[in-house]
Amino acid sequence: MAREEEQFERIPTQICRDSEAAAQFVAGEIAQLIRERAKEGKNAVLGLATGSTPLPVYRELVRLHKEDGLSFRNVITFNLDEYFGLSDEHPESYHQFMWERLFKFVDIPKDQVQVPSGTVDRADVYDFCDSYEKAIAEAGGLDYQILGIGRTGHIGFNEPGSAGDSKTRLVTLDPLTRLDAARDFLGEANVPLFAITMGVGTILKARKLVLMAWGQSKASVVRNAVEGKPNENLPASLLQGHDDVRFFIDRSASEELIRFRLPWLVGSVEWTPRLIRKAVLWLSRKVKKPILKLQDSDYNEHGLGELLIGAGPAYGLNITVFNQTQHTITGWPGGKPNADETNRPERSTPFPKRVLVLGSEPHEDILCMGGTAHRLKNQGSEVTLAYLSSGNLAVPDNLAKQTLALMSELEREMDFKKGEGLSLGQFADVILKGIEDKRDEDNDSEEVRRIKALVRRNEARDAARILTIDREAQEFLDLPFYEKGRYRNFVTSEEDVKALVSLLERNEPHQIYVSGGLADPGSVSGVCYRLFCEAMEQLKDKAWMKHCRVWSYRGVGQEWPLFEIDMAVPLSPDELVSKVEASFQYRSQRSQFPFRAASHREIWQQTDEVNRSTAAAYDDVGMAEYEAIEAFKKIELEELLGS
Ligand code: F6R
Repeated sequence: MAREEEQFERIPTQICRDSEAAAQFVAGEIAQLIRERAKEGKNAVLGLATGSTPLPVYRELVRLHKEDGLSFRNVITFNLDEYFGLSDEHPESYHQFMWERLFKFVDIPKDQVQVPSGTVDRADVYDFCDSYEKAIAEAGGLDYQILGIGRTGHIGFNEPGSAGDSKTRLVTLDPLTRLDAARDFLGEANVPLFAITMGVGTILKARKLVLMAWGQSKASVVRNAVEGKPNENLPASLLQGHDDVRFFIDRSASEELIRFRLPWLVGSVEWTPRLIRKAVLWLSRKVKKPILKLQDSDYNEHGLGELLIGAGPAYGLNITVFNQTQHTITGWPGGKPNADETNRPERSTPFPKRVLVLGSEPHEDILCMGGTAHRLKNQGSEVTLAYLSSGNLAVPDNLAKQTLALMSELEREMDFKKGEGLSLGQFADVILKGIEDKRDEDNDSEEVRRIKALVRRNEARDAARILTIDREAQEFLDLPFYEKGRYRNFVTSEEDVKALVSLLERNEPHQIYVSGGLADPGSVSGVCYRLFCEAMEQLKDKAWMKHCRVWSYRGVGQEWPLFEIDMAVPLSPDELVSKVEASFQYRSQRSQFPFRAASHREIWQQTDEVNRSTAAAYDDVGMAEYEAIEAFKKIELEELLGS
């Protein structure tokens, strides 16, 4: 029987402390299955997934093999899918993925591993898929299938529209899926259009299904899969038809489930001040009345009668939440000197403040808080924008080529000569040729990665200049985890933490702005956030830390919901125009592929929309009407160090 809080959930959903804890549990179940089967002299048949999500499970399985003697000799595996057109050796093929992340570290016999082929002849695809189904059946069917979920709601590569009884087949990837894969392939244009995937029906035949999801970007699709009616437009929702399916998700992926979004509709709750604020703001928008016009009947009719009993009547409750919300708004994000600070989100002293803005990549700061950074600087604070990664992996070849072509042209036009060895233009020509001769399966050379990093550095400089922030205020850390890594394969080291510790010590900031706390822990911003927490842990006893406040901003294209906002910084129409203009400078972040989803928004559109809609939300609940707002949540040090 589901517990009261799970009453709206149609799939048993376990919310785990973090992805590591969930992965340990899932890997533990798999290990137990393998061992039990081995004792009976039988095989364990596993259905496996790729992508970021299962990585911690594979790490744990490898650990269990190495440290606990878990053998994979009796394991047969079938992978969910493979990109069509990619050879097994392509670095982004799922064959490579599985060998590099799991198979090569354990003792599984090669002939017990099955991954759909990406190179089967087009004319033979049907037969191939049919034989894949038969092979699963001959192995005795899948005992345990692990799944991730795509933002389209896909499982395997069963995109919206996939039937519940679909089998292994060739499919066309959804534009959103291709956009999400663009980074892995170093550009959207390189992402295959098609894939071979097990069908939803194939997956549903597995005896046990476990779906995992990490990070806030999965929250809404998880909610729809768990709470919505099963439908083919969201294939993961079709898992509701299975009698042994469970979801394991982390806190940020669970954010949109009713039990967290609207807990008062689910059962009795403990009314903390934050939850009261959440309920009142929700009610105000729900009934489309400003906070101060809400009546007892509004509360009662919308499941908030219990709140009225403890904290009502409406009149007082409304005033409390109205004032709280009002007090989040400030035009002085660095604190207003010589002003009464009682009802301001930031202290007035010390003034000016030393402010450190951390961006996981060289575009996050301006896109998410360019208006605030501009204000901080103009109001006298000493602002440093620090970029943790160089961002070179996200630069498409054509931009690097343009840059190199410019270098080479420049030399010719200006008769540029550079002493001995290669001239600037010749050097550019050599790298240019390297990009042109690069095969799909090749990684970028070190030089190409440097050039690409410079592309992003210059975009960041151009963007900051538009907001009157000069280049001396920008620090590019180029952390080693990123320089040495690839997407889904970042390994951090003490060197990364050291670089951050030294940045923090050099600045001794009064304010730090940071993002990534809710991101998938394997993503660039998730990794950067974890490194930041580790650096702060090492510095926690320093005297300056007592005066340091940490403000968290949401990632690109996202914003805090109203009740979470502790500081809202309004932007004037002109400031918003400048910010959008600054956002135009990130050419490398533009969608490179012409066939995108109709709903696709370029990052400057997202920036504009997000900031405007936050202002509209404040307006809806009865605050002053602003053009745009950037918002921040305060993070207490204990919270940060505990994470
Ligand atoms: C992978 C697969 C996909 C992924 C999904 C989530 O074999 O079939 O359904 O599980 O796209 O990807 P990540 O884990 O990278 O977020």
